[in-house]
Amino acid sequence: MLANFMAWMDKRLPLTDAWNKHLAQYPTPKNFNFWYFFGSLAMLVLVNQILTGVWLTMSYEPSGDGAFASVEYIMRDVDYGWLLRYMHSTGASAFFIVVYLHMMRGLMYGSYQKPRELLWIFGMLIFLVLMAEAFMGYLLPWGNMSYWGAQVIISLFGAIPVIGDDLTLWIRGDYVISGATLNRFFALHVIAMPLVLVILVFLHILALHEVGSNNPEGTDVKKPKGSVKPEDQSKFKFHKQYTDKYDIVDAIPFHPYYSVKDIMGVAGFLIIFCWVMFFAPEGGGYFMEAPNFEPPNGLKTPVHIAPVWYFGPFYTILRVIPDKLLGAIGMFSAIIVLFLVPWFDRGVVKSVKFRSKLHLLNLIQFSVCFIVLGVLGTLPATPTANLIGTIATFGYFGFFVALWFYSKNEKCKPVPERVSH
Ligand code: HEM
Repeated sequence: MLANFMAWMDKRLPLTDAWNKHLAQYPTPKNFNFWYFFGSLAMLVLVNQILTGVWLTMSYEPSGDGAFASVEYIMRDVDYGWLLRYMHSTGASAFFIVVYLHMMRGLMYGSYQKPRELLWIFGMLIFLVLMAEAFMGYLLPWGNMSYWGAQVIISLFGAIPVIGDDLTLWIRGDYVISGATLNRFFALHVIAMPLVLVILVFLHILALHEVGSNNPEGTDVKKPKGSVKPEDQSKFKFHKQYTDKYDIVDAIPFHPYYSVKDIMGVAGFLIIFCWVMFFAPEGGGYFMEAPNFEPPNGLKTPVHIAPVWYFGPFYTILRVIPDKLLGAIGMFSAIIVLFLVPWFDRGVVKSVKFRSKLHLLNLIQFSVCFIVLGVLGTLPATPTANLIGTIATFGYFGFFVALWFYSKNEKCKPVPERVSH
């Protein structure tokens, strides 16, 4: 009966074909390591955010008068409301941890290089929308840090010449942050941004499957048709869409090999995620900040206004540049250069494993600067912190500039024809 039903369905909607093409018979390089867990984990967290978000919305009141109290109501009176909220708030931080590691993998293995530039661009668009989504979500508990955080960030738009003041007014929908601002952020946070995010993730995966996955060695597992001896080709069955165009070597079908491996990643992730959620949901003040347990108060600025940790690197860049407009430009440039990394890198060797020592050092210094910028973003701006932040900002942008110069004639090790292990 099931076979008949599927045959009926497949004539009208190619379900089996899509399943085989994108999951079961997708040729996946056989050498994926730990770093390749984070794509599927990002999907898991996305689903978690959407589901818990829908249920939170059922009891949340998006109004200036009721928002703060409705969050307390969710925490105290709604059955398992505390669990829903902590899954969502811990999920937001988990999302950024997972996505930052996912991006780091891309940088290490040159997964942004030709032919994966568009895949990278979709990833960066996801990152941008994710930041907007998190920023708007943070206003919703309507605590004092929600209020002042939004105040600081929205006021940045005021630095834009000519249109700045009108633009901030338009974003806020009022002369100050008010219930009107909360209302529109709610609409964007619960429907517009998630919709865009889901569409972008869909395109991200579609683009990935068109060009194929990279891997820790940066060696392609699909070779031009007819260039590989039959005995060297993979013995597994892959979807004809891939085998019609290429000879496939060193690849295994996604299912069951990576579906099972990813489940192991999910188990490891959930152990850590649940531990944080049940035993340290505030993340030591990093996931939920102390001033946010007080209602918003336009007359009481928190002693130290700090964004949530995941905005730290960009916030520090904003803060160490003394001029407001230049600071905002610096902050947005930090994201734009990431978009452009496929063009800053003029090399052909992908994986850091076969690239020069200089590239390895550059990547390490970039990661250190990024972490330092992140930590500084959560600390008060003292003169010493500003000095360190300025140096780290140079290190951050220096990564891209140096990459452009040395990557053209970089001395790399020979890349093996086949995945070596
Ligand atoms: C909601 C967020 C995201 C989701 C759900 C997601 C999902 C995925 C999945 C499932 C894969 C294939 C499995 C893997 O390689 O780990 C993948 C690959 C990839 N993603 Fe993402 N991704 C997200 C965000 C990003 C971001 C922000 C970037 C970078 C700007 C990015 C860049 C890439 C690249 C370059 C690959 C190919 C990696 C390779 O083949 O070596 N992704 N993504």
